Amino acid sequence: MPYEYTCISVFLSVAVLISAAFANNLQCNTNGDYQIIPKADCMGFYICVWGSPVEMPPCPAGTRFSATVNACVHKGSDLDDCIPDSGVTATPVTTTGPLSVEERCAMFGGIIAHPTECQAYYNCSVWYQYIPRLLEQHMVECPYPQLFNADSEQCEHFENVTCGSRKEFKGACDYRQNQCAAAHCIPCNVRFGNCVGKLDGLAPHEAKLWSPFYVVCYKERAVEHNRCPQDAGGRTQLFHPVLIQCVPLEMIPQKYGGSMPA
Ligand SMILES: *[C@@H]1O[C@H](CO)[C@@H](O)[C@H](O)[C@H]1NC(C)=O
Ligand SMILES: *[C@@H]1O[C@H](CO)[C@@H](O)[C@H](O)[C@H]1NC(C)=O
Repeated sequence: MPYEYTCISVFLSVAVLISAAFANNLQCNTNGDYQIIPKADCMGFYICVWGSPVEMPPCPAGTRFSATVNACVHKGSDLDDCIPDSGVTATPVTTTGPLSVEERCAMFGGIIAHPTECQAYYNCSVWYQYIPRLLEQHMVECPYPQLFNADSEQCEHFENVTCGSRKEFKGACDYRQNQCAAAHCIPCNVRFGNCVGKLDGLAPHEAKLWSPFYVVCYKERAVEHNRCPQDAGGRTQLFHPVLIQCVPLEMIPQKYGGSMPA
């Protein structure tokens, strides 16, 4: 007990010292580094502009400033590292180089294109309490096969988007949202056909060969997932991966479940 007590009081004294130092003496580096200084009460932060602290708008209701992610985060969330009144969060955070997404969202909000992936972007208005696996805080993806147009700041038809240096994914399973993040997930290549490297038009669904399922490819994207209609007699037809069309069971070899004479 005495040992614990000693630790706590040492901790508190240090905290009070740090807190006092910042309350009385809010110092920005003079070297011009981009710098964020959290407020001791966690209700907001300062940024250093040309070496002088500038008070930023307070964190929105229900949020507090997190010194770890340099942004206002929901009170009580995993990212909320504030210890109010102790001043422990009042440690200046110095960042050199470009701002992180969290910093840009905290300071300016809005929409930020993903630097390397053309289907992804950050929407500062989107805040995940639990960040989905394979995504990041604020990260959103366009629905497949759309891409993000950085000029209009919207998802658009892939033919209307210029990706520049951002990588343009053509396969549905290259989109993060379609990849399996949880156990017992049906593998992406079963849920989506693949058109990469294929000509426009119908193509077999590779994970479902000799079944009624096929895909329609356009510019190497799987733009439709279809099922062969029944024939006039109400009988099942299957997609023939060599003939590239729906055919009755009489045209399907027996080893693939058809009734084609050997
Ligand atoms: C960003 O998120 C907000 C809030 O969910 C939404 O209203 C807005 O349409 C989104 N913008 C884009 C480009 O996704
Ligand atoms: C592409 O953009 C043009 C001009 O804005 C528009 O008319 C056209 O409908 C768009 N194409 C698609 C497939 O969305």
